[in-house]
Amino acid sequence: MAQKKPHGIARGLTNYGDAGFSLYLRRSFAKSMGYSGELLGRPVVGIADSRSGFNNCHRHFPELVEAVKRGVLAAGGLPIDFPTVSLGEVFLSPTSMMFRNLMSIDVEEMIRAQPMDAVVLVGGCDKTVPAQLMGAVSADVPAVQLLAGPMMPTSFRGERLGACTDCRRFWAMHRAGKVDAAGIDEVEGNLATTAGTCAVMGTASTMASIAEALGMALPGSAAIPAVHADRLRAAEASGRRAVEMAKEPVRPSQIITRESVHNALRVLLAIGGSTNAIVHLTAIAGRAGIGVSLHELNELSDSTPVLVDLKPTGQHYMSDLYAAGGVGAVLRELKPLLHLDCMTVTGRTLGERLQEELAWVDRSVVRKFDEPLARQGGLVALFGSLAPNGAILKRSAADPALFEKEGRAVVFSSLDDLAARIDDAELDVSAEDFLVLQNAGPKSGYAMPEAGYLPIPAKLARSGVKDMVRISDARMSGTAYGTIVLHVSPEAAAGGALALVRNGDRIRLSVRERKIDLRVSEAELQRRKAAWKPPVAAPVRGYAKLYMDHVMQAEHGCDFDFLRKA
Ligand code: FES
Repeated sequence: MAQKKPHGIARGLTNYGDAGFSLYLRRSFAKSMGYSGELLGRPVVGIADSRSGFNNCHRHFPELVEAVKRGVLAAGGLPIDFPTVSLGEVFLSPTSMMFRNLMSIDVEEMIRAQPMDAVVLVGGCDKTVPAQLMGAVSADVPAVQLLAGPMMPTSFRGERLGACTDCRRFWAMHRAGKVDAAGIDEVEGNLATTAGTCAVMGTASTMASIAEALGMALPGSAAIPAVHADRLRAAEASGRRAVEMAKEPVRPSQIITRESVHNALRVLLAIGGSTNAIVHLTAIAGRAGIGVSLHELNELSDSTPVLVDLKPTGQHYMSDLYAAGGVGAVLRELKPLLHLDCMTVTGRTLGERLQEELAWVDRSVVRKFDEPLARQGGLVALFGSLAPNGAILKRSAADPALFEKEGRAVVFSSLDDLAARIDDAELDVSAEDFLVLQNAGPKSGYAMPEAGYLPIPAKLARSGVKDMVRISDARMSGTAYGTIVLHVSPEAAAGGALALVRNGDRIRLSVRERKIDLRVSEAELQRRKAAWKPPVAAPVRGYAKLYMDHVMQAEHGCDFDFLRKA
């Protein structure tokens, strides 16, 4: 008779060369925490907790984790929480993106190394959800993603404020001299006032929506505000469901497939989601051995309407999406375009889920498929001599008047150069120029910061210029907006064409043709290339070395080459 695989606390024993001793020792030490023998015989549900004093978005996690534990206990499991790396977006230097892969390694290895039959991943702030999903896919233990949920917007002098589109709006007004120092000080205290992730369709909300669209989070759970009682009920339900999955496993490898990644891309486009999500979804899919091509993105973008009216491209906040029907309302509209036989964490397919759902929707927030906000998706990939491997433009957050345009390059060679010169009164720049930032990609030493939202030069901002074409190998916050070409690949620090642009060069952008071209002769480019040197010395030790040696370009999700599934 085949031996039953060890489960619960008996999984993956520490190796002392005597399995019986190892189990006895483990149970003995577990009992030192006060567990009874009865509880130690139950299926174990790990709870990957990314709370941290450096992560404001996760400040409610103690309460959320308690609710998960309640659900696990009620369903007959043993909940055991464990800490992982946490990535508080604005508390990390040079950028949280540098540490997403580190967190994914932590999550993967701790799921694999510790005895658990299933895991609830508790995350929310920008990079934490992709890191948890990447780790969970690689570990391939049954996993439920529990999201932090969005912050609530605040009422402030007759208008609603919410991080972080309004952060940028007020800062732009401050730079333009329309909000004084006292005013911006007051705004600062009113932008982020509750627990939870940024209140608009930024990267965190986009990744939450993607987690639900992929089938990794419980139906209806992505948009629940962090402080809503439903968020706690979703936590309890996630714990319950994890126990069921421990008994009848549904693994990430059954959920994250080519088809579910397509569904997630459709949702990303329909919600006008963050450009960062392309990078993260590519990395998550890569862990399952699935490629995401930017040409494919363009095909999907052309046939996916924008349905959700949220900032930064629209007017509402994430809590409004929840009240309007949530991600389920979007999925129902997209139904004819989706692969309905995709498995989800519930053990049922997406199609079964959508058949059962109630149909009330607030149409001011989620539009009908045939009455969309825009007929085509929010994101497009551009290719050409400036970006042979691709670049991304969020057209739904951009000014269509700038879509077909040739301009003169005004080049900044680094973030430091940008900071030093962008507001210089002597800067030779006009509203018709293209601002170009070099050396802000994955290998730049800045680890691809959200610096693609180059500020409008102060002298132009003061004269009323609100948007210009801006081009870089950086990323952009999901809460930002403007005619901004991002993720140019190969990046400048890897010797891509972006590194060869000089002041005064002509660049042609055509969103219609999906083109971005540097109009400089091949001979001149070769001459510049011969004189090119990498902008930073290679790190010699530690995580910085691991990162620099192995990080891939944006079109591969900036994952480490050795972490992708072969
Ligand atoms: Fe955490 Fe925006 S800072 S989601």
